[in-house]
Amino acid sequence: TKIAIFASGSGSNFQAIVEAMRTGDARISVEMLICDQPGAYCVTRAEELGVPVLTFKPKDYPSKKAYEEKVLAVLREKEVEWIILAGFMRLIGPSLLEAYPNRILNIHPSLLPSFPGKDAVGQAMAAGVKVSGVTIHYVDAGMDTGPIIAQEAITIEAGDDSAKVHQKIQQVEHRLYPAIIEKVCN
Ligand code: GRF
Repeated sequence: TKIAIFASGSGSNFQAIVEAMRTGDARISVEMLICDQPGAYCVTRAEELGVPVLTFKPKDYPSKKAYEEKVLAVLREKEVEWIILAGFMRLIGPSLLEAYPNRILNIHPSLLPSFPGKDAVGQAMAAGVKVSGVTIHYVDAGMDTGPIIAQEAITIEAGDDSAKVHQKIQQVEHRLYPAIIEKVCN
């Protein structure tokens, strides 16, 4: 099964997925990284891992439809079957949603439906919750909505700062996302 990963930032999930799919018998290949931030660290990781990268700047296109169609052409050329969002900071529009119905996954650093959108860890800290976690879900037109596939909790202890909470969440993400991708995409 051929997948493409979309990221905007550090790309630690991207790397965890690539490495997991290269070991074991996953039968899934990461065909490319799609990145909307040409300077982002995920691009460096992709180069080091030897994964082809398509970077684009949405500003260079007249509309969302226009850049999504450019992305779609590249995905189709490589016969990509699934889109995996891993820290991609943009809503997916109708062109991609219609081309990949129920074939787009996202990971979010909270137990949805709590704390959707940006800075989920900061939101959880501000709310003072003692349990947060990770959600993997199908993507629909909303922000961090769409049917939930898997969740795993972490505890927030007294004295944990947001860096610590983020670290706990990422540890879960790097294990859970590859496992769910293997299950769902195969
Ligand atoms: C992750 O915490 C993910 O849940 C969220 O964005 C973050 C991406 O981190 N959607 P990274 O770029 O994979 O390190």
